[in-house]
Amino acid sequence: MNQESPRRSAAWFGRKGKDGFIYRAWMKKMGLPSHAFDGRPVIGICNTWSELTPCNSHFRELAEHVKRGVYEAGGFPVEFPVMSLGETLMKPTAMLFRNLASMDVEESIRANPLDGVVLLCGCDKTTPSLVMGAASVNLPTIVVSGGPMLTGRHRGKSISTSDVWRMSEANRAGQLDDMELTLAEAGMCRSDGHCAVMGTASTMACMVEALGLSLPGNAAIPAPDAARKVLAHHSGSAIVRMVEEDRKVSDILTREAFENAIMVNAAVGGSTNFVLHLLAIAGRVGIDLNLEDMDTFSAKVPLLANLQPSGTYFMEDLYYAGGLPVVMKELLPLLHKDVITVNGKTISENYDQEVCFNRDIIAPLDKPFNTLSGVVVLKGNLCEQGAVIKPSAASAALMRHTGKAVVFEDIDHMKQRIDDPDLDVDETSVLVLKNVGPKGYPGMPEVGNMGMPAKLLAKGVTDMVRISDGRMSGTGFGTVVLHVSPEAADGGTLGIVQDGDLISLDVYERKLHLHLSDEEIAQRKAQRAPAPVHATRGYVQLYQNHVEQAHLGADLDFLKGCSGSTVTRDSH
Ligand code: FES
Ligand code: MG
Repeated sequence: MNQESPRRSAAWFGRKGKDGFIYRAWMKKMGLPSHAFDGRPVIGICNTWSELTPCNSHFRELAEHVKRGVYEAGGFPVEFPVMSLGETLMKPTAMLFRNLASMDVEESIRANPLDGVVLLCGCDKTTPSLVMGAASVNLPTIVVSGGPMLTGRHRGKSISTSDVWRMSEANRAGQLDDMELTLAEAGMCRSDGHCAVMGTASTMACMVEALGLSLPGNAAIPAPDAARKVLAHHSGSAIVRMVEEDRKVSDILTREAFENAIMVNAAVGGSTNFVLHLLAIAGRVGIDLNLEDMDTFSAKVPLLANLQPSGTYFMEDLYYAGGLPVVMKELLPLLHKDVITVNGKTISENYDQEVCFNRDIIAPLDKPFNTLSGVVVLKGNLCEQGAVIKPSAASAALMRHTGKAVVFEDIDHMKQRIDDPDLDVDETSVLVLKNVGPKGYPGMPEVGNMGMPAKLLAKGVTDMVRISDGRMSGTGFGTVVLHVSPEAADGGTLGIVQDGDLISLDVYERKLHLHLSDEEIAQRKAQRAPAPVHATRGYVQLYQNHVEQAHLGADLDFLKGCSGSTVTRDSH
């Protein structure tokens, strides 16, 4: 045993006497030989496997491939579970628990004898929660994403998450029977993996690759493809080298890396949820990133990936066209090329030899699919700290629009009122939904692209300006203003809007304005009842008392920053 080992794990496994005995003896019950404790890098595999997170249900097998790579490079892998956030089953929204899961990840890594960590991430929130937690410990860390599902197939057609909404509406209208819907259910999610479009899970997989936190190619390899297992194997070897070379999260997550991630997100047409998660991650590593940066750096970048919901194709197609590496190569003239990634190479070293195999799917920088991309940040008296809109998902005719507010005080009020035939609403109205923000719901659910009034749908209206303090699914679309900050439940002006008030949206001028005098706004705010308290105990109470507003990333205020990896005291 190497008592001189400088490794972190030596403070457990390198010890003599009672403590070392305890630290090693129970590990040996798993069949580990003494040389496993000789000072070689101990690699944690942080696993979000769960049958309640179907997108991550293949992660036990994926972890085995990471282990092969760790052993091959001379490391010692140990797999451990953390809280897994499944997007489809968790109520009221998985977002409520992102910060809780990040605490589990942070403390699990710090408390244990680990020298480096591989994060197995897939479904939407599993990526930011793991990266946030790991960043607050700052060990050498590599992300392995689970990969997207194969494209869904139903009656000879490609289908995906976005068709859930279309098919269920057709079923309600009697155009699609129940049996047909059941058949579609079985064809939509027909393989391992996360959602097959550029929704939030794929957005997060692109984000970690763009940040340099994964090996090249991580973003798009489909979950069932053998190449995904090979990537996991290589990542296992790479983390051992990363430990040996002492490259930490903070060496990767520089200000330049964050700027690169914003540019890549714009080029792939990523989800608006990217904004919240990237801001929260930046907060953990102490990088001064703000909401305006999301606009500044995406404004330079056109849309290069033709993927749903901004375009036509699926993640599987992106992989066959060359994957995110080709997008990165096209963007090299705009990116910070010299930032280092987990494998010790720079962005340009990793990507400058990539070749595109299908220009219908990945466009060159000089012939983009759309000059509109990314996220526009709005300011005005209706969103003093900002709001966001995804222009590529909005209607051109509504980007500059003034209309009368139709106000829903909360989600229940909206459900009860939206299809009322007597509702005073037309296609020029602006729908306002309050109390779906971080504190107000609580947890900031994906309801911002609220359904439109039935009587307008019947007239053939397909889009209206919609404003809320909530989020929208990465697969959603429409002229939808999201993440209004401060939210209604935190004293924001959104909370005092009334039916009939005039609201102006101007995406070109980046403005969101409520046509009321400052005096009128102040007067209404003074008369407003305090926001309801949703929980008097437990995590939800903690969350309500400490969650920050959307423009800061909606992390808990006391989780900002990094506590490092040092633990000085023993357990016995
Ligand atoms: Fe898990 Fe879409 S539901 S990624
Ligand atoms: Mg989602």
